[in-house]
Amino acid sequence: MLAEQDFRYIQDLVRERAAIVLESGKEYLAVTRLDPLVRRAGLGSLAELVAALREEQTSTLHEEVVDALTTNETTWFRDVAPFESLRTHVLPDLIQRKRLSRTLFIWSAGCSSGQEPYSLVNRGLPAHLLIKYFHRLGVRWELDARIRSMVRFQRQSLVGPWTNLPVMDLVLMRNVMIYFDTPTKRQVLGRVRDVLAPHGYLLLGSAETTLHIDDAFQRLAVGPTGWYRRKQGSPVRTGQG
Ligand SMILES: C[S@@+](CC[C@H](N)C(=O)[O-])C[C@H]1O[C@@H](n2cnc3c(N)ncnc32)[C@H](O)[C@@H]1O
Repeated sequence: MLAEQDFRYIQDLVRERAAIVLESGKEYLAVTRLDPLVRRAGLGSLAELVAALREEQTSTLHEEVVDALTTNETTWFRDVAPFESLRTHVLPDLIQRKRLSRTLFIWSAGCSSGQEPYSLVNRGLPAHLLIKYFHRLGVRWELDARIRSMVRFQRQSLVGPWTNLPVMDLVLMRNVMIYFDTPTKRQVLGRVRDVLAPHGYLLLGSAETTLHIDDAFQRLAVGPTGWYRRKQGSPVRTGQG
């Protein structure tokens, strides 16, 4: 059970922290996703959880609530085709452009448990790649340190301040904006343009687009995959705040 004012508190919390729109009528979702957290925190009910949240402005409990209400589904090489066009078109182009510095900056924004950024360092995860790039650790598999060292994880809300970001050659922001309203999408895309190199590429989820949201991007089709690039002469904004 979730009282109306407690649901409103949760709605406001996820909108403020993560721009996620939790529509009215989705109370069941809040209950299902938050019940395990209530138990883990040793609380008696959702009402107690909301009371604990109200007591403090910010706590790890707030973060856990936002995490619980975020959809975190991800897989290795999700959607296949984008990774194929990345290999055949986008990476060769970026490698050629950056041949002097020999460093590419790639941001997987909203990367969930990390399969997406690690999918960028090699192809597919069939058995032979598992054997090649992972080693056994008891009953589990661990990715080799040389691959892990290429990826740095940083906890960051797309609607908060963006810190320590270099100019990016490639940004993947897939299946993240679907939870945002249009003004938030516009704001986030404008900020992505700010961090994207003029020659850079942006990849969105297959059901997402910049069209009618930020027309300073143009779409480039590579096979079935749509990549986005900054239009030539598109305004360069200043500041990331
Ligand atoms: C459905 S997963 C997509 C994961 C991966 N990009 C993929 O396509 O496989 C959505 C991700 O977006 C993140 N997310 C949602 N709202 C966010 C926000 N405001 N700031 C940062 N990340 C956010 C979630 O934490 C989650 O990791």
